[in-house]
Amino acid sequence: MAPHELTTERFSQLPIRLKKALAQLIHASPADIVLANSASYGLHLLANGFPWRSGDEILLVQGDFPSDILPWLALEKRGVSIRYVNPADYLPSPEELEAHLTSSTRLFCTTWVHSFSGKTADIKALGEICRAHGVTFVVNGAQALGNRMVDVSQMAVDALVGVGFKYLCGPYGTGFCWLRPQLLASLEYNQAYWLSTQTSDDLGRAGADVFLPLGPPTSQTYDVFGTANFFNFKPWAAAIEYLLRQGIEEIIAYDQKLISCLIGGLDRKKYKILSQTEGSERSNLIFISHHDPARNEGIYNLLRKSGIGLAYRRGKLRFSPHLYNTTDDINKALTILNAA
Ligand SMILES: Cc1ncc(COP(=O)(O)O)c(C=O)c1O
Repeated sequence: MAPHELTTERFSQLPIRLKKALAQLIHASPADIVLANSASYGLHLLANGFPWRSGDEILLVQGDFPSDILPWLALEKRGVSIRYVNPADYLPSPEELEAHLTSSTRLFCTTWVHSFSGKTADIKALGEICRAHGVTFVVNGAQALGNRMVDVSQMAVDALVGVGFKYLCGPYGTGFCWLRPQLLASLEYNQAYWLSTQTSDDLGRAGADVFLPLGPPTSQTYDVFGTANFFNFKPWAAAIEYLLRQGIEEIIAYDQKLISCLIGGLDRKKYKILSQTEGSERSNLIFISHHDPARNEGIYNLLRKSGIGLAYRRGKLRFSPHLYNTTDDINKALTILNAA
């Protein structure tokens, strides 16, 4: 309604505000956060910018979310080979990872919480193995951020990507990538966005020069174009600030209470719980299946029609309650499930 009010200050303040909120969420420095529109953005940045040599190997996880697989595949044209760990239980154990590393493995990419099973990777142990073998460790935290404590300063992770539109309660088209400074400095990627070196005020000066960023790249060099994406990034920054004010620990406790309610109330004569139900491997994604899996799709449709939001993934029902849900929501879902 008032585009003339998009001042230079507003253009520059929004990315700063969002980076600060994300940095607080993952215990990082705002200077190491690249703003993105998806998880894929950061993974593509790495795939295209990593200093590959012919003969290098990338290790991926069979059955991982497509965003974790696709960005690397075109590198085969550059002589980089793609290999897969095929885990016994969705995500590799430390032993499975170690058994697949070779002297050519340069990078390992995995999801933290698996979208199709709810399984949680042991990021600490996987990271230590990567570090011991000099392998760059890339983690997709899309299903973990906002429902687990994340402290990159304590993790042997080199890059963490995430999206805003899941547990971080942001709009679609939001994401970020945190890069360890040494990794960021090593990228060789042709990206130069005019708003990362100039402001719209510079356009007012006669004969202002266009120049490549001076000095080594910073996270700003790699921010998604249209960085001050007001409609998306402003509500996302507000959402993260809100979550931080509530306290991530409090949110985790609340979410886990809802999950316990779901697990505890489910009629086990009818349903199997496929996800981990206890311990640190229990995530916010709870997969269940009717004992007759052919009935799952019908039950999913019934729940949707009754106003219960859930996902149907690879033939199974996926629940992912969060702070906007109540025990009444869970009880409503249970009533329908148990009567089905
Ligand atoms: C693990 C994981 N990564 C990424 C995404 C989204 O991918 P992108 O942000 O690349 O579209 C999802 C789900 O939408 C997901 O579950």
